Amino acid sequence: MFAETLNLTQSKDSATLIKRMYIESYGCQMNFSDSEIVTSILEKEGYTNTNEIEHADLVLINTCSIREKAEQTTRKRLEYFNSIKNKKNKNMIVGVLGCMAERLKKRFLDEEKLVDLVVGPDSYRDLPLLLQQVNDGKKAINVFLSLEETYADIKPTRLMKNGVTAFVSITRGCDNMCSFCVVPFTRGRERSRNPKSIINECKDLLDNGYKEVTLLGQNVDSYLWYGGGAKKDFNKASKDQKESSINFAQLLEMIAKIDIKLRIRFSTSNPQDMSIEVIKIISKYKNICNYIHLPVQSGSSNILKLMNRGYSREDYINLIDQIKKEIPDCAISMDMITGFCSETEEDHQETLTLMDYVKYDYGYMFKYSERPNTTAEKKLTDNIPENIKQRRLTEIINKQSQHSLENMQKKVGKIYEVLIERTSKKSKEYFFGRTTHNSSVVFEKGDAKIGDYVMVKVENCTSATLFGKIISYEHTTS
Ligand code: 5AD
Ligand code: SF4
Repeated sequence: MFAETLNLTQSKDSATLIKRMYIESYGCQMNFSDSEIVTSILEKEGYTNTNEIEHADLVLINTCSIREKAEQTTRKRLEYFNSIKNKKNKNMIVGVLGCMAERLKKRFLDEEKLVDLVVGPDSYRDLPLLLQQVNDGKKAINVFLSLEETYADIKPTRLMKNGVTAFVSITRGCDNMCSFCVVPFTRGRERSRNPKSIINECKDLLDNGYKEVTLLGQNVDSYLWYGGGAKKDFNKASKDQKESSINFAQLLEMIAKIDIKLRIRFSTSNPQDMSIEVIKIISKYKNICNYIHLPVQSGSSNILKLMNRGYSREDYINLIDQIKKEIPDCAISMDMITGFCSETEEDHQETLTLMDYVKYDYGYMFKYSERPNTTAEKKLTDNIPENIKQRRLTEIINKQSQHSLENMQKKVGKIYEVLIERTSKKSKEYFFGRTTHNSSVVFEKGDAKIGDYVMVKVENCTSATLFGKIISYEHTTS
């Protein structure tokens, strides 16, 4: 049995044992979105969320494997959970979800001995059964990767509790096989979710007061619905299925038409798959945010080739030019990896000059971290010394900070529509919201409330935040 009698709710004719679950998520937005699906599945089994690990019957950690550091964080957290389990809460069940569960599989149970339950990203429906197994005194594991699972019918329990913004997952898995990336091994083949269920989820969110959705996928541009199954099987689809298939641009348009007051973001775009059709749809609909996260990973064509990214420096620049032509006011951010196998000083300089060309609004920059089983691990050598990786990373970060600041400074004196998400963490008197460009804005509350669109005049900035004042309360998107 689960740890008993922590909490009993009495109804007229039944007493229900409440089981408490604690869930912690790491890594990409998809993981946070998956934790909402897991919570929804477990609520049906009688679990309720708690923030107190000490009192939880079930502690889950939704893990990331993308870099070694992320895995080290998980191990430390597992040790902490186990110290609580040993000292204070012997019946607590500890489970590992997500990419690290998938990567380490049974080794987690055999070698680490820190966990009772290991569940990969496509096996969350199996959680009730697996928990039953643990209750019967066995360790439980399911790391089966599916060609079809999209959890389309599961209504996520929203854990980001602002009631304004929500994640909506549209694809799972990735077929791209970038040579540095572990994701295709941990999250399986790419498959797209039925557009009807996506639209219904968005409408439901709107009906419940939400104002912004972020469509999630490892590679949203490659979204392709043709009736189910993995993207790689599209060639085997019937003529009818092919003719009625829906791509990302079409999906975006369908969601944009739901309601002008529903703002749309999406992540992550992939330069090799982003089409001009998608760019035109972004430019056509005001409620699709003028912001594209377009990871480049390197400014050198040689390195991009070794990374198997499917585009060159020139292709990427052409795409940026097209975006800037169609959507002149578009914010662009990137991911960059520095110190990849055999990266020369010239390659590094090409990264810096590409950054000068694009002048990204934001950037997420990483030192290359070799991941087991990837093509880079098997075929290339992680031969850039740590001190050089670090120096190059510092140069890239410094350049990005400068560009971020310059882009923000250009906004001072201008007026932007801001969707209010929450009270500012620094002061109760101020709200925090975001512009279409995904810029963070902080301003005095006035008569506005969370969930309102307001017009804010920017008065000041740092490289990360705009500060301003409300000049009008009207919603101007229409
Ligand atoms: N080493 C460093 N960074 C990586 N990323 C993915 N794999 C690795 C790796 N092995 C980065 C990429 C990706 C982001 C989510 O994480 O920049 O876009
Ligand atoms: Fe990894 Fe490349 Fe897929 Fe992104 S597109 S998840 S970097 S394999």
